[in-house]
Amino acid sequence: MRDVLAPESMRWRRFVQVFADVVEAAGYEQIIPPLLEDIGVFSRVGEATDVVSKEMYDFVDKGERHVALRPEQTASVCRAFVQHRPNLPWKTWYTGPNFRYEKPQRGRYRQFDQVGIEVLGTTDPGLDVEIIALGWRFFSALGLQQVTLRLNSLGEPDDRRRYTDALRSHFTTNLGDLSPESRATLDRNPLRVLDSKRPEDAPIVDAAPVIDDFYSAEAATHFDAVRAGLTSLGIPFTRDARLVRGLDYYRFTTFEYAGGTLDSAQNALGGGGRYDGLVEDLGGPPTPGIGFALGLDRTLLACDDEGVFGAPVRPLDAFVVDTTGGGEAIVLADSLRGSGFRVDRAYDNRSMKSQMKAADRSGARVAVIIGSDEVAAGTVVIRDLRDGGDQMVIPRAELTDRLRALSSAQPKDPS
Ligand code: HAM
Repeated sequence: MRDVLAPESMRWRRFVQVFADVVEAAGYEQIIPPLLEDIGVFSRVGEATDVVSKEMYDFVDKGERHVALRPEQTASVCRAFVQHRPNLPWKTWYTGPNFRYEKPQRGRYRQFDQVGIEVLGTTDPGLDVEIIALGWRFFSALGLQQVTLRLNSLGEPDDRRRYTDALRSHFTTNLGDLSPESRATLDRNPLRVLDSKRPEDAPIVDAAPVIDDFYSAEAATHFDAVRAGLTSLGIPFTRDARLVRGLDYYRFTTFEYAGGTLDSAQNALGGGGRYDGLVEDLGGPPTPGIGFALGLDRTLLACDDEGVFGAPVRPLDAFVVDTTGGGEAIVLADSLRGSGFRVDRAYDNRSMKSQMKAADRSGARVAVIIGSDEVAAGTVVIRDLRDGGDQMVIPRAELTDRLRALSSAQPKDPS
């Protein structure tokens, strides 16, 4: 688990702001679920998945409740729906940390952040298209150009079940040739064997049955509508019949966004799909759902690699240098901050030289200098710290107007 310091922390906040702007423009409202839930909320996500069976941070609390730090937020959103019953369709977005006990490496952490959306209450394939398009729009708002989209459908639960059985029998027939890892996966979840990247598994995976042969008429029609919708928006995608995703609750549409520059094991920037059935599993009425989550940490790595969406620069407007002992700085800094300026100051009654050094280091636009002469005359000195170091004495009463004129003369940072 990592600390995030400035300026990276500012980049994180901006990332979430850009996401909020994109999804709130489409009618999504934020939910802030707790980090900790009853373990039962997540067990439903899929006992057969690594996320639930191996990677959860769970423990018994002081009240003997078995709880877990959330490994993802879809299940929390569905639990919240069952509890609060908002009007349908319920369009919601979220952000925040999740916890999975994975082997840490570049792009894979035990605490990682996501932004995501979920919609409960409609099976309209037009919504699948909207959701996928919003993720696409967000990546392009960040400036990423090498993101690719993979799309699949897992069919209805019954299609998925029949397909899983067919896979199990195919892989069991070829058991001797499968890698030991895939043999272990087969016991738990035959679908996940399709995900194997081991060369010895490739021929058997290539020869495996394909899901298309198992779609019901409804599943096939839904998938066609999603593909047609994406095409009508000009969003390029690849059909990947092997895209199964790591969580058990998916049915119908599934999708993943991949970064063009990251290692293939960690290149999924985000993914999602339909999970009609999850609300029911959590004790609510049958309610269709769909959404995605995008990994903040990984997406920022992709931004680094593509040289886009750097840390925002938010320079200070002024840095107060006070040679009277510090009392003037208290008042000046406070009143300037109250007028909306970003202002820092020097502490510890240092020498003028040392305070000016701090002012230079701060990146502020101007130093506001005050000593006993200025106090007596009702003036301050402002020194331009950027362009040539010009200095002038002005009446203290004109300080805010001067600063305002200076800060409107510089290019505005959009953050
Ligand atoms: P997920 O595929 O498990 O889906 O996670 C989504 C994204 O979170 C991944 O593509 C990745 O970018 C990021 N992520 C996952 N694990 C880690 C990790 N250990 N370190 C860094 N980043 C990570 C879900 O979580 C589903 N809840 C998505 C969803 C929403 N499906 C429907 N609605």
